[in-house]
Amino acid sequence: MKKIIKNGTVVTASDTFSADICIENGVVSMIGHELHDPQAEIIDASGCYIFPGGIDPHTHLDMPFGGTVTKDDFETGTIAAAFGGTTTIIDFCLTNKGEPLQSAIDTWHKKSKDKAVIDYSFHLMIGEINDDVLTELKEVINKEGITSFKVFMAYKNVFQADDGTLYRTLLAAKDLGALVMVHAENGDVIDYLTKQALKEGKTDPIYHALTRPPEVEGEATGRACQLTELADSQLYVVHVSCKEAVEQISKARDKGLNIWGETCPQYLVLDKTYLEKPNFEGAKYVWSPPLRDKEHQEVLWNALKNGQLQTLGSDQCSFDFKGQKELGRGDFTKIPNGGPTIEDRISILFSEGVQKGRITLNQFVDITSTRIAKLFGLFPKKGTIAVGTDADIVIFDPKKERVLSANTHHMAVDYNAFEGMKIKGEPITVLSRGEYVIKNKTFVGKPGRGQYIKRAKYGKSLNLSVNETLRI
Ligand code: URP
Ligand code: ZN
Ligand code: ZN
Repeated sequence: MKKIIKNGTVVTASDTFSADICIENGVVSMIGHELHDPQAEIIDASGCYIFPGGIDPHTHLDMPFGGTVTKDDFETGTIAAAFGGTTTIIDFCLTNKGEPLQSAIDTWHKKSKDKAVIDYSFHLMIGEINDDVLTELKEVINKEGITSFKVFMAYKNVFQADDGTLYRTLLAAKDLGALVMVHAENGDVIDYLTKQALKEGKTDPIYHALTRPPEVEGEATGRACQLTELADSQLYVVHVSCKEAVEQISKARDKGLNIWGETCPQYLVLDKTYLEKPNFEGAKYVWSPPLRDKEHQEVLWNALKNGQLQTLGSDQCSFDFKGQKELGRGDFTKIPNGGPTIEDRISILFSEGVQKGRITLNQFVDITSTRIAKLFGLFPKKGTIAVGTDADIVIFDPKKERVLSANTHHMAVDYNAFEGMKIKGEPITVLSRGEYVIKNKTFVGKPGRGQYIKRAKYGKSLNLSVNETLRI
C-alpha cells in the first residue's frame, strides 16, 4: 500500500527541509508539499525528524570467537538494529585458511537467510593470499557483490595475517575495485605483552587494556597507511579508538591518500576505568582495541566533526556476562572480546553528538548512513532520501528522553554496555523498503524478510550527488 509521511522534517547529509514523502512499491516515489492520495496510508511525523535508514558497516552476528559464539544472531541482532534505526548491516564473513572462499560465504548465507529482518551484505575476511584466493576474489566480487575485504593485524594465531598478506590484499583490491578494511593493532607486540602480564600474575580484565596500549594501535594504523600508499590502493580502518591512530589517518589523508576511518559508540562515551569494575564486571567492557583514557574521547569527537574520521560502526559482537565473558575469570586473555552496541549506535551519536553540539544534524546522517553507503557501494539505493531510493526511513523523535538498559533493550545479551546512560532522541517508526519493521516502537517485521544486497565496486558511488543518483 502507498504511504505518505507528513509533517516531518527530512534530514539528509546535505539538507534539512519540511516535506511530505510518498512511498510506493518499496521506493520513495515523490517528495513535495501537501501530497495527497485518498488511497494512501498517512503517517504523521509531527515533531519528528525523517532520516535515511542507518547503515551499520561493522557487525559480528552468530560468529564463533574466543571459544564461544556471539549471542546475537541474524534474527535478534537485526531486530535490535531496527529498533535502533538501522535498516542495513554489513556483517563480517570469517574464512578459514585452505577453505574455498565460496564455502565460507555460503556458511554466512545460511546463518542470515531466514533470520534477517533488515537488508544485509557481507565483508570477507582475508587470512591468506595465494593464486587460488586471487582467482576466487574476482568471483566473489562479480557473483556475490562483496567489494570489501578485511585483514586482521592482531589476534595472533587466530585471525592475524602478516604484512605480506595485507600488502597483496591491497594490491588485489586496487585491481579488482574493492576496499580493504583493517583491524589495526600490532598483534605480535600484544602477544608478547600479554604473555609477560600473565607470567607476572596479572590476570584481571584491566590488563586487557594495559597490554594493548594506544601505541600498538597507532603503529599498526601507520603501517597499514604506508602499505596502502605503496600499493596505491584504498583503506578503511575499523574501530579507531585513540589519538595515536587518528593522527596516522589524518597524516595519510593530508597526503591525499584514499584512507578512511571508523569509530564506535563505546570509544566515544566509555573509558578504561570501566575495566576496573569489581566482581569481574570489567569483563563486560573488554573490546579490542580497548577502551582508552577519557582524553581520547574528545579527539574522536573532533575527528568526526572535522572529517578525519568519517563513519560510526557498532562493532556489534555480543557475549553474555554469565557463561561467556566469565570464561576469562582468572585469565583476561580468555575473555571473549566485544560487546552489544548494534541497538544504541545511532541514538548515542544523536544524543551525545547532535544534542550536545559536537556535530551537526547533517553530519550525523552522513556518519551513520550516507558516507557508509558511498564507501561500501550501496549508494544511491541506500543512504539517502530522494526520489527512486529504497524507502529505508527512520521517523525519529528528538525530544524523547530515556535511559539505556538491559531491561528494555532488544539484544539477546544479559547486560547493556551503556546501562543507565540518559539519552535524548529515539527512533519511533522504521521502514525498510517501505514496509514497517518497527511501528510506534513495536516490532512488526518478519524474520527472513531482509534481503541480501550485492554491492558496487569501490569508487563507483563515492562521489555521487543525489542528482547524479537519479540518472543511474
Ligand atoms: O573486541 C572486538 N572488537 N570484537 C570484535 C572483533 C573485532 O576485532 O572487530
Ligand atoms: Zn577488530
Ligand atoms: Zn569487529
